[in-house]
This record gives sequence, C-alpha cells and structure tokens, in this order.
Amino acid sequence: MYRHRILIVDDDKLLQKSLFNILSEKYDATVVGSGEEALQYLARNNTDLVLLDIKLPGMDGVEVLKKIRDQGLEVSVIMMTAFEDVKTVITSMKMGAFDYLVKPLDIEELEVIVEKALENTQLRQEVKELRKQLAEFDLENIIGNSAGMKQALQLADKIARSYDTTALIEGETGTGKEVIAKVIHYRSARSRKPFISINCGAISKDLVESELFGYEKGAFTGSLPQGKKGKCEIADQGTLFLDEISELALSAQVKLLRFLEEREFYPVGATEKKKVDVRIIAATNKPLERCMRDGAFREDLYYRLNVAKIILPPLRERQADIIPFVDFFLGKFNEKFGKNFRGVSPEAERFLLNYRWEGNVREIKNTVERIVLLEEGERIERNHLSFLVPAQAAENAGSDAAPRLTAGGVDLVEINKSLVFKALEMTGGNKAEAAKLLGISRPTLVYRLNKYRSES
Ligand SMILES: Nc1ncnc2c1ncn2[C@@H]1O[C@H](COP(=O)(O)OP(=O)(O)OP(=O)(O)O)[C@@H](O)[C@H]1O
Ligand SMILES: [Mg+2]
Repeated sequence: MYRHRILIVDDDKLLQKSLFNILSEKYDATVVGSGEEALQYLARNNTDLVLLDIKLPGMDGVEVLKKIRDQGLEVSVIMMTAFEDVKTVITSMKMGAFDYLVKPLDIEELEVIVEKALENTQLRQEVKELRKQLAEFDLENIIGNSAGMKQALQLADKIARSYDTTALIEGETGTGKEVIAKVIHYRSARSRKPFISINCGAISKDLVESELFGYEKGAFTGSLPQGKKGKCEIADQGTLFLDEISELALSAQVKLLRFLEEREFYPVGATEKKKVDVRIIAATNKPLERCMRDGAFREDLYYRLNVAKIILPPLRERQADIIPFVDFFLGKFNEKFGKNFRGVSPEAERFLLNYRWEGNVREIKNTVERIVLLEEGERIERNHLSFLVPAQAAENAGSDAAPRLTAGGVDLVEINKSLVFKALEMTGGNKAEAAKLLGISRPTLVYRLNKYRSES
C-alpha cells in the first residue's frame, strides 16, 4: 500500500527524533534541520506533507513556505511554532499553510491534523491531475482540419452532451479512437469521475467476467481473499471504455449484453446484484459488421453498442490533417528535445501527403519525434524521411496500386520507386523475375535501383 511521504523540518534534535518515531509508524518520514535542506529535498522527492518549524536557523519557516508556494509544489504544509505568535501564524495561513501546531505538541492533535492535511494534499493532486487531463482534451490540443475529423469531433461533442448515450468508435489502428473516447468523457458531465479503460483483446477469456464485474470474497481459487471490484464498479458515474471490443469472447459478449440492458450485474460468486451508472464507449479497429457476418460478434450486442457511431477515417483519407499534425508534433518534440524545427520543405510535404500512413496518427507522431531527435535544422527535408521509403513503398504498390491524387499532385518518381521495391519484395529479391513482373529489362531495373539507392 502507498505510504504517504512526510518531511519534518526542525532544528531541535529531540523533537526531530520524537516526531520521526511517531510518524514513521504510519508514514514514510524524513527529517531535515534547515529550510535550505528542506527545499533541496522537496525539489527532488515527491512529498505529500511538510511539518515546518517557523523558527529555523538561516531561512525561517515563513520564507520556506513562500518558496514552496512559489514553486507550485502540490504539498500541504503544517507550521509548528514554540509560542503562539499570532501574527506569524496568520501570515503563514494566508500564504497557504494548511494548519499550525503549537509546541509542546499534543500527539493526538498532531495525528488528526496530519491525516486531514494528507487528505488535502490528495485533493490538490487530484485537481491538478484533472486540470491537466482536461487541458489535453481542449480543442487546441486536438487536431481536426479535415472534413472527416471535424465531423467526428462534432459528433463526439454531441454525445458528450448526452449523459448516457453509448458510443461505438471505429477506425484503423492509431487513428485516435482513444483520443475521441476521452474527448467524450472529459467534455461530459462525467468529467470529474473516472475514465476506466479495459482492453478486451488483452484479457483471457476466463477472466473477462471478473475483470468487468469483480468478484466476492473467495469466489474462486487464486482470488483475493477480500474480493475485488470490477471495472464497471470502479467506473461508477464515469465512463467505461471497452477497447478492441471485437476481441471479446462470445461467452463474455452475452454477459456484457445483459449488463448493457440492465446496468446491473452480479460480481462473480455474488448472490446480490449491483447497480452502476456508467457510460459505455466501445472501440474497434475491425468493422463490427464484418465480425458479425463471420459469426464472431453477436448481432444483439452490436445493436446495443451502435447507438451513436463515430468513424475515424484513416489518415491517408484526411490529408488536410497531415501537415497540421506534423506542425503540432513538431511543437511538442521541439520542446522535449530543445530543438527548433519550424516547418516542412515542399518536397518533404509532397512526400508526407502521399505516404500511406498505415500506422496513422501514431506513425506520424513517431516519425516527427524521430526526426526532431535525430536531425538538426529548422525544416523537415525530404532526406529526413528516407527511412519511411522501403516498407511503405511496397504497400503503395499493393493490391490497389492506383496512384493517389492529392493537393500536392502525384509523385511519379515515388510511384515508380515503390513499384520497383514491391516487385523485388514479391520475387524475394530476384532481379530478373522482378524485371519481368514490371515489364522492363533487367539492366533497366538495375539502373533504376542504383539510382534510387544513391538518392536516399
Ligand atoms: N486528433 C488528434 N489530435 C492530437 N493527437 C492525436 C489525435 N489523434 C490521435 N492522436 C495521437 O495519436 C496517438 C494514437 O491515438 P490513439 O491511441 O487514440 O489511437 P487508437 O485509434 O486508439 O489506436 P489503437 O487502435 O492502436 O489502440 C496518440 O498518441 C494520440 O495522442
Ligand atoms: Mg487505442
């Protein structure tokens, strides 16, 4: 279990020792003898509470408190004073001390105030975390220039405004399904309650039920003696995100269906039903209609989930988002790596717009991260992108080799290049056969190959 961390700041050796002994029973306590040491310690260690003597050698307690607040540390502070100096106490309280204690300390009072202060810290930390998460789902942190993404965001907003509506999000891997699920949650009236996610593809068939609904004490061998809450219950009043829903075993689908219909469930081994209030959002990268046709997904469950469907188009079909994504991630990774990239050269832009982005937004994010980390300069150049060519070129020439017309035009050199690499891939590197496939002579193929290699 988590032990709260408390820092004791006092220069009185006797008091240091007795406070340490009392607090160490329940908490993780540390002692320092001066304000300077305290600040050093706090800069390096996550701390929940500081017991701060007002009269210290060097920097006094009030100054230390001021520094702690100036640095925005989410820690509660209890002041300690040897005599009730009303003025100093008032000053400290105004500066955000949680409470104060008068020496000699009354142990019972100490324990009560420490408990309360720790609760206060926890609240502060939760508020800070929530603010951070809320900010992340502010409009300026979500890229949506393309018509497809705008539509998805509008729909997400509408769903957010309704309290209960179930949503189904479909899209290839990395298209932003989880982002959209969180947009719905954090823009809804449930935003201050938990967003709980469960990856249906990652839990074994036998454990799905207890993961979702929890279990009673001693429900099965190997279960925790005190029982365990299921995700449905943990998500009460919040949102339950069922990721990779198509991977859910048929037996679990039946149970989920029953839960969706009644919002009630039996924990494994329980005789009494529990009721919760959650919004369900499911996501899948396999279209569920297809799974249904294949008999892998129940029709009735599909209709229960498909109340509001958001389809996230693959990135290659929302080209208006590509450059905004690059700029957005450049900003993020510039900050992370202390670089100064500002944009994209015209040739690099053409390439980026025509690339297939099988990994969608995740791939573009990783691409930008890699470039900002490894390259120098102010612009992404075409040669920074050469690592993207081989595998993707093969894909470009795949079953639908039709060139894509984009705002940036068709890159014939790229198309030729991708066909050559695809042919080589298909023939396991045999140049004569690859040339035959392409309808060109072997020397022509070799010539082109050498040319592409010397360029990249
Ligand atoms: N519109 C967007 N604005 C900003 N960042 C985005 C956007 N869409 C996706 N991302 C970022 O792209 C990455 C992939 O997104 P996310 O995890 O939501 O995809 P996913 O569809 O759930 O993928 P998977 O199917 O693989 O689970 C994340 O780092 C996410 O922050
Ligand atoms: Mg996901």
